Amino acid sequence: MTKFLLLLTLIFLSSGFFTNAYEPSPLQDFCVADTSMAARVNGLTCKNPTMVLADDFHFSGLHIAGNTSNAVGSRVTPVTVAQLPGLNTLGISIVRVDYAPWGINPPHTHPRATEILTVLEGSLLVGFVTSNPENRLITKVLHKGDVFVFPVGLVHFQRNVGKWNAIAIAALSSQNPGVITIANTVFGSNPVIDSDILAKAFQVEKSTVEQLQSKF
Ligand SMILES: *[C@@H]1O[C@H](CO)[C@@H](O)[C@H](O)[C@H]1NC(C)=O
Repeated sequence: MTKFLLLLTLIFLSSGFFTNAYEPSPLQDFCVADTSMAARVNGLTCKNPTMVLADDFHFSGLHIAGNTSNAVGSRVTPVTVAQLPGLNTLGISIVRVDYAPWGINPPHTHPRATEILTVLEGSLLVGFVTSNPENRLITKVLHKGDVFVFPVGLVHFQRNVGKWNAIAIAALSSQNPGVITIANTVFGSNPVIDSDILAKAFQVEKSTVEQLQSKF
């Protein structure tokens, strides 16, 4: 009997552990973010539910193309809890990505979300790399209507391989997925990571590192 209880407790604890690794399940119908509150829980504090309006669950603007006139030739328009307070505690968000011809969405990772991407217009080469030690590149060319998933935490990227603009919509399994762009975090941190460290890490001359650092 005690063994059985112990087992039950273990199962209970381990399931709690695994769910806590992700966003907690909501304990109410919704928890519209009250951004005026300074207090932080694991997420944002809830607005008084009687004061909640339809607009708290609404965002307009994903029909508008993002400006891709930048060094990488792409633009992400996010709709996370920062733009749509009703997403608070719900573990989901959405983005629009625009790509100029041959534009890229550079290698990056979302520390808190799996991403499912669908191509609305154009053709994209997409890929992600598995963790150490295999570091296997899994890549595919997608066309209009194709769907691809980037597993949580893995470094991934997209490139427009068409002559025309491309558009994708991606859903992410967090209200606040976070973005870690590899180049910016490694070469553009504030303050900078010592170039000796990066020269050794990337097995290049310090001058090469300094050149990269000057760009971010
Ligand atoms: C797009 O961004 C570029 C560079 O920042 C800027 O010069 C241009 O005016 C922007 N275009 C539009 C339509 O906002």
